[in-house]
Amino acid sequence: MAPRDPILGITEAFVADKNPNKINLGVGVYYDDNGKVPLLQCVRKAEALMMEKAAPRTYLPIDGLAIYDKAVQELVFGAESPVIQEKRAITVQALGGTGGLKLGADFLKRFSPDAQVWISDPSWENHRALFESAGFQVNNYPYYDPATRGVNFAGMLDELNAMPSGSVVVLHACCHNPTGADLTSEQWDQVIDVVSKRGLVPFLDMAYQGFGDGIAEDGDVVHRFAATGGSLFVSNSFSKSFSLYGERVGALSIVATSAEEASRVLSQLKRVIRTNYSNPPVHGGQVVATVLATPELRQMWEDELAGMRLRIREMRRLLVDKLAANSAAQDFDFVVRQRGMFSYSGLTKPQVDRLRNEYSIYAIDTGRICVAALNSHNVDQVAKAIASVI
Ligand code: LMR
Repeated sequence: MAPRDPILGITEAFVADKNPNKINLGVGVYYDDNGKVPLLQCVRKAEALMMEKAAPRTYLPIDGLAIYDKAVQELVFGAESPVIQEKRAITVQALGGTGGLKLGADFLKRFSPDAQVWISDPSWENHRALFESAGFQVNNYPYYDPATRGVNFAGMLDELNAMPSGSVVVLHACCHNPTGADLTSEQWDQVIDVVSKRGLVPFLDMAYQGFGDGIAEDGDVVHRFAATGGSLFVSNSFSKSFSLYGERVGALSIVATSAEEASRVLSQLKRVIRTNYSNPPVHGGQVVATVLATPELRQMWEDELAGMRLRIREMRRLLVDKLAANSAAQDFDFVVRQRGMFSYSGLTKPQVDRLRNEYSIYAIDTGRICVAALNSHNVDQVAKAIASVI
């Protein structure tokens, strides 16, 4: 038997739990204050427009819906970006952010077979397995410092300076998963400088754009990497920002060093896709493209995303206050400083086990909890349970 998936396996255990008061703080999914996964208004409206058109479902091009690829590229790099104007960027539709990462990994393995991959310590639970399954040796660079609950930046920089040129460095563009600890703007300057000077290959994973400080603010790191003139890989996802988890809608963008190189990269990437799943599905890409390209729907999306971001912030504050009110044996103020959907809570594996076994509250074994699954009705229950297990 293969081991249970560290994140989606928790959902399997949660679904099997018969306790009516169970709470899933495992997987990174946003729930509203009534504990429901929202269907965004902008998505409903886009779907209504699509229903009216009743378009046939023929195959999409191998690289996806052209209007989707264009809209996503402009969202990721900025509509005025030189990498778009110079035709150095290519964007292909992918099956969620995971799909974008896997396409990039398979592509890199074909053309840089001897390179090694570096991921943060810790990183998204699936990064290592995904790059290993593409055939890479995967290493860690220092990232999280439990003592400060922030980033061990000196350690990270030392490791970047020691990697062989051509190494692939996976970086979280915003809302670091699982820790919620992001680099400061000045720290990014230094990382971009080292990566670019040392000839490392940056692979940005941007699954949570809009959940940190805003759509533009969270995308800023991508723009800054793109401005270096070097190669760049970016996977992005609309699972969370459009609440379209099950539609598997994301993208991979690659910035090449010339327009001519970009067209060769796209031709090779299409081979990777064709031999994997042939071409992507229509529906999710059409929804996102419709919203992004229709000013009224786009404004609606930006407002709805801002609403999700603010609710998560409120839940961080509320959790900290409730933990204090329940005389939790430690200070949880750091939770409000973390960014995105997650809190690296510091809970140990035995404490996580107790939460699950005694309270039917499900978290990741590493202590990661999804703050976006808290609401005004369940936060008391969660705070009491955490206070009791620590
Ligand atoms: C997570 O980290 O929980 C999400 O990215 C969902 C997933 O696919 O693991």
